[in-house]
Amino acid sequence: MHFTEKDIAAMESRYRAALINSVSGFKPANLVGTADHDGNTNLAIISSVVHLGSNPPLLALIIRPNPVERHTLDNILNTRCYSINHVHHTFIEAAHQTAARYPKEQSEFTATGLQEHWVEEFAAPFVLEASVRLGLELREHQHLRINDTHLLIGEVVLVDVPSDCLGDDGALNLSAAGTVALSGLDSYYETRRLRRMAYAKPDQPPRALE
Ligand SMILES: Cc1cc2nc3c(=O)[nH]c(=O)nc-3n(C[C@H](O)[C@H](O)[C@H](O)COP(=O)(O)O)c2cc1C
Repeated sequence: MHFTEKDIAAMESRYRAALINSVSGFKPANLVGTADHDGNTNLAIISSVVHLGSNPPLLALIIRPNPVERHTLDNILNTRCYSINHVHHTFIEAAHQTAARYPKEQSEFTATGLQEHWVEEFAAPFVLEASVRLGLELREHQHLRINDTHLLIGEVVLVDVPSDCLGDDGALNLSAAGTVALSGLDSYYETRRLRRMAYAKPDQPPRALE
């Protein structure tokens, strides 16, 4: 199939959303954990987490506009603190269910059965069942005028990963950690590492490490 700008503009909106949501390739599947100042917790599945840099360690995420309340966005802007938890293949259903529009008083933790895990002096809950958990502090918030979305840039201040998935060089083996990948808004994939490549240099051919 070949689609032009005109074809894309003329597409039925759900068809266009499904297509454009999947053309960027596999996306990470993460649960973002937050709490408000009254201690009400919130959990939302978010596929837009991207790496911005490692020094300082920055991750960005995009919160889309919505006619209804955005609990994750409000909580992050108010407390400047949130957790990012990898979706593990054992709790895909519960993770997906966090996308449902629960009222603010109803925590997605209670609604889905996923358990809160608190770390001292950190004001956002982590997901107990997740094997990879990150704690972030908000460093920058940009409202993107082009499509009314919110770009949230956070610094990674806590990292909790299984020791047996962590290589001597610091690289995490995500497939060993049971982390799943996402396509579009509904398709969850298992992953398998095919190859690890050495740092590319112009005067050397591509070299596989393992
Ligand atoms: C697979 C999947 C990925 C999603 N990724 C995002 C995302 O990156 N950004 C976003 O704003 N909403 C995303 N959503 C929608 C939110 O999960 C949903 O709006 C949720 O209700 C937000 O909860 P909150 O209002 O409690 O923050 C995604 C939904 C699904 C099913």
